[in-house]
Amino acid sequence: MRITLSFATTADGYLDDRSNRRLMISTPEDWAEVLRLRARQDAILVGAETLRRDNPALLLHNPDARLRRMTDGLRPDLTKVTVTRSGRLDPAMKFFTEGDADRYVFSERELPAIEPFATVISSHGPLTAAFVVTELERRGIGSLLVEGGAEVLRMFLDAGLADVVRQAVNPALHLGEAQGGAQFLFEPPKEAWCTTENLGGMEVLTAVLHPDTRKEDLVWLTRATQEAFRCTPCDSCYCVGAVIVLRDGRTFTGYTHETSPTHHAEQEALAKALAAGAGADLHGAAIYSSMEPCSKRSSEPESCTQLILRYGFARVVFAAYEPDCFVQCQGAQQLREAGVDVRVYPELAQAVRKANAHLER
Ligand SMILES: NC(=O)c1ccc[n+]([C@@H]2O[C@H](COP(=O)([O-])OP(=O)(O)OC[C@H]3O[C@@H](n4cnc5c(N)ncnc54)[C@H](OP(=O)(O)O)[C@@H]3O)[C@@H](O)[C@H]2O)c1
Repeated sequence: MRITLSFATTADGYLDDRSNRRLMISTPEDWAEVLRLRARQDAILVGAETLRRDNPALLLHNPDARLRRMTDGLRPDLTKVTVTRSGRLDPAMKFFTEGDADRYVFSERELPAIEPFATVISSHGPLTAAFVVTELERRGIGSLLVEGGAEVLRMFLDAGLADVVRQAVNPALHLGEAQGGAQFLFEPPKEAWCTTENLGGMEVLTAVLHPDTRKEDLVWLTRATQEAFRCTPCDSCYCVGAVIVLRDGRTFTGYTHETSPTHHAEQEALAKALAAGAGADLHGAAIYSSMEPCSKRSSEPESCTQLILRYGFARVVFAAYEPDCFVQCQGAQQLREAGVDVRVYPELAQAVRKANAHLER
């Protein structure tokens, strides 16, 4: 999933003032660009406090963008998402009542009062950005716009789950501590690729924290999905293929049960890398797997997720989430929570289904 954080602040970093009315920080030119940015996303997320204070509808106003979504078989408005611990959400909020959109409320616990108005997804424990991203991605969301407020912006940024940050600053607006509400100060990291522009007086910084690696990823992931067809189908396993790509360009492939009836594809590729003396070079490497790496094993001492973490892989790329057929896999979530860059390309999932057609019978 590509994740963009977008927000507007005063010159002193405030997202809002302390009054009850909504403070308009953006100029019309900037706001028009924000709406264009929204139109390119699958989903939009704001924190529960923003819903309570501003009651935003979070709609797509552009008729062309709405039509495009409908032509793609989607509902016309962006999927709306919020997060809450308290569950203090009023079903009369525009989040629930306006627009034709799917709605997800992420919460640490069940929220029966909200269930008639939105899909409630409970983490049954601390709610992390990794959990939100993984669960949205499982439901087909490929791009997410996080529009604030400060707490949710921090939640995604601190978890390393922001690919692009768009910060629009109105230099003419100063609030000071007495008047300022939620504050969010963003300093792009040195390695970010930054551009600036002026939109009707707003100073807009776009910082790319993680470049889009789709093109290269699809090449290696296609190779991984092809490896899966070398596996002999059996009733108790998925046929999976994997490719490890080291930073120096060396690659190692593997497929399920290639050398042992208990080995997964990732283990087979890993064993080849270790046999070639590349153990130390696995740190920072990428592993491409046709399916989400497993998070639980009974026939091996470590899951593939544990192995990936132990050897210090920086990136994990796969095409299909593991279905809840044998176990409930939490590989992607656990990897993201450990800071690994996880990318999923469902456009290659068809090949994964084909390699595993024996399990659908
Ligand atoms: N200028 C802009 O671009 C912009 C954009 C958006 C918002 N804003 C402003 O930002 C202000 C709100 O910012 P804020 O930082 O106070 O609040 P916020 O980020 O909008 O929402 C915070 C709330 O989200 C929930 N939450 C956050 N992290 C969570 C987690 N890990 N697990 C579960 N729930 C979690 C909690 O809801 P519960 O309290 O329900 O538990 C928390 O109180 C408003 O004044 C709004 O106007 C400005």
